Amino acid sequence: MLKRYLLSPGPTMVPERALLRMAAPMMHHRTPEFSAIFAETKMMLEQLYQTESDALMLSCSGSGAMEAAMINLCASGDTIIYVNAGKFGERWGDIAAKHGIHAIEVKTAWGEAIAVEDVAKSLSENPHAKAVFVQASETSTTTEQPIQAIAALTKDLENCVTVVDAITALGVIDMPMDTWGLDVVISGSQKALMLPPGLATIAISEKAWAAIEKNPSRKTFYFDLLTERKNQKKGKDTTAWTPAASLIIGLNEVLKMMHEEGFEAMYARHKILAASIRAGVTALGMRLVSKAPATSATGAFIPESIDGGAFVNYLRQSMGVTFAGGQDDLTGKIVRIAHLGYYDAFDMVTAMSALEMGLNRFGYPVKMGTGVAAAQEVLVARFPRHQ
Ligand SMILES: Cc1ncc(COP(=O)(O)O)c(C=O)c1O
Repeated sequence: MLKRYLLSPGPTMVPERALLRMAAPMMHHRTPEFSAIFAETKMMLEQLYQTESDALMLSCSGSGAMEAAMINLCASGDTIIYVNAGKFGERWGDIAAKHGIHAIEVKTAWGEAIAVEDVAKSLSENPHAKAVFVQASETSTTTEQPIQAIAALTKDLENCVTVVDAITALGVIDMPMDTWGLDVVISGSQKALMLPPGLATIAISEKAWAAIEKNPSRKTFYFDLLTERKNQKKGKDTTAWTPAASLIIGLNEVLKMMHEEGFEAMYARHKILAASIRAGVTALGMRLVSKAPATSATGAFIPESIDGGAFVNYLRQSMGVTFAGGQDDLTGKIVRIAHLGYYDAFDMVTAMSALEMGLNRFGYPVKMGTGVAAAQEVLVARFPRHQ
């Protein structure tokens, strides 16, 4: 027997409560029964986004919602600005290229947060840019990006909006959409929403809706967000096309769990888990990948004598513990440990312990318990002192 632990930054562990809800016999999606669940889910989702505007559910992975955002806001020939701080930032440029959208890249080295001045400079050089696209948490480098400051740059620009890929940030960090002036915020089910892959969510401000309405050639049928808004609005409570109904039912359950925990407590839990892994890997002498580490996942360099790809495979296949490796230039060099979603203190202890035992099995000198102890010192704050 090999007991499995899924500690990758997507997909993440799914709570039993959500699994059980999703395992119920299938119901038809054009029924009052489903619409009641849909309406309640949408309302709770908007509370998570901290918006008075709409949050929509789309049947696709996160990248589908990234493309939907861009092609609803922009037409071929339009100019946009995008932050490229890693693999997912790069994706904005790839999407734009497919649609003939002129994309201005603002780039930084992997592991670094973008300099807000660079985005400001690009905006002043490209006054016709219709949007700035950025990741809240760049998962490839486990780096948080300054979305609040970037949104502040476009807040008062009449024809420019900020689009945030919060696929590994929504439900992890407090990012009040309306207060910060984030115009479009995207997430995906397999991350902090604690569900299997296949559902994306996208919240859209009034300013962004106006921009979408003004866009003359939205070259999309399936992802026409105006059609979705019409169907998903209160009272209609359905989706334009057949929805990923099981995932929406699962979303209803996980949002209830989030409400029960309380958003403040949820963000605080994520902060402690992230700090514990940073402390653990640092105690083992491993260098963090990021200079502005994310709360969603921690990337750390694997000792040079070890092939990182083989290491991650070994942990998954022989020890049952799934971490993520590196992408592109970081392939074989790093390990990424997730702490977003359905995780708590003892999952982090497991993660650190697996890391130590894995290093040992690869012949790397490790004093067992070093990383675990450093993580425990942080994690113990999760629990009140016994009176
Ligand atoms: C920050 C970020 N953006 C985009 C994506 C792509 O999402 P998906 O794989 O759901 O299409 C991911 C997935 O890991 C991500 O972490």
